[in-house]
Amino acid sequence: MRFWFGSARFARLKFFVYAYQTLRCACPTEGDEHANKSSPQSQGVTLTTDSMEVGPLTSEPTWQQLQDFYDKNSSKLVIKDLFEQDPNRFKNFSLKLDTPHDGDILLDYSKNRITAEVLKLLLALARARKLEEARDAMFAGQKINFTEDRAVLHTALRNRSNQPILVDGKDVTPDVNAVLEHMKQFTNSVLSGQWKGYTGKPITDVVNIGIGGSDLGPLMVTEALKAYGRGLRLHFVSNIDGTHLAEVLKKVDAESVLFIIASKTFTTQETITNATSAKQWFLNHAKDPAAVAKHFVALSTNAPKVTEFGIDPANMFGFWDWVGGRYSLWSAIGLSISLAVGFENFLQLLEGAHYLDNHFRTAPLEQNVSISNCRPANVTGDSCQYQPKTQSPQTEE
Ligand code: F6P
Repeated sequence: MRFWFGSARFARLKFFVYAYQTLRCACPTEGDEHANKSSPQSQGVTLTTDSMEVGPLTSEPTWQQLQDFYDKNSSKLVIKDLFEQDPNRFKNFSLKLDTPHDGDILLDYSKNRITAEVLKLLLALARARKLEEARDAMFAGQKINFTEDRAVLHTALRNRSNQPILVDGKDVTPDVNAVLEHMKQFTNSVLSGQWKGYTGKPITDVVNIGIGGSDLGPLMVTEALKAYGRGLRLHFVSNIDGTHLAEVLKKVDAESVLFIIASKTFTTQETITNATSAKQWFLNHAKDPAAVAKHFVALSTNAPKVTEFGIDPANMFGFWDWVGGRYSLWSAIGLSISLAVGFENFLQLLEGAHYLDNHFRTAPLEQNVSISNCRPANVTGDSCQYQPKTQSPQTEE
């Protein structure tokens, strides 16, 4: 099993980013006509917020059963004893994914205080909370972000199968691919030295100015994938305290720096304040507003605000309201990742996430790494092996 070296590094990263994000996104939902076969709609059930409604977690009978189990058994759940009682514990409470290109991913739950009975109850709780229905609704493009009446489709950003994904009746796949193509052209142009600064020098440093999801995802991924670096120095500025930007500006040269202004809304106070300061600093050096086009790009859904700020619309990389901020590293917000590791490696990141999307969407709860570990101890056989289907989110099974 390869975990820490070579291409498995991608697999590990993809898994943790993905697992964190998918676990956070199962929410109640609203109706939508775009359903895949495995979704409740295709079985004649219309999903509405009401039909997805669940009461307080602690009112679930299964929750009470878990509480009773804990009250009676918690003092007896000692990991060392559990291993002594069950020689197959590791096998029974772990799951291995055999990824197509990146080696295995092992999810080992056996060192947690879990038993077959607890696992059964947890899965029953997941079903009672309509986790599968919420998952299917998300993949089907339903507006499960009901507070903003939006779809939650970061999965469409990494839909490498290119099967149509509909939002309000429109296939979003061509738009996603067009932005990826723009990112590819730009990344290659910068990395090859073709893209020049205002004095003709190639870019050496990239400063990503953003906050929240427009900062943390790319920051984490570029840090984790440093071994794949293509030579650019990456800097991230998020804090509105001026010292953050000032310290970064000491390290860069106006003639060879590229500022990425990353903001879904392009109205976030911290980001726009820092971006304005960066532009002022740059103009103090370049003394020519026309030079901004060579040193500032924007990642945003808000073209009018980007133009108002003074960034050439040709240097804007767009995304859409169905991309939540915290899930946006897979969108144009990932431009800093692409510049750091190269566009081909950025695509690999998307491929890995797509593989796990398919796994999350199709694997039974018992074998779903995003939800559970493998089958409980009383099931024999090599139950920890799971090969996900490769169909796209809206392909009929
Ligand atoms: O923290 C709230 C939030 O809206 C996040 O969802 C988002 O990632 C961050 O602020 C930055 O927002 P924006 O990308 O619009 O600047």
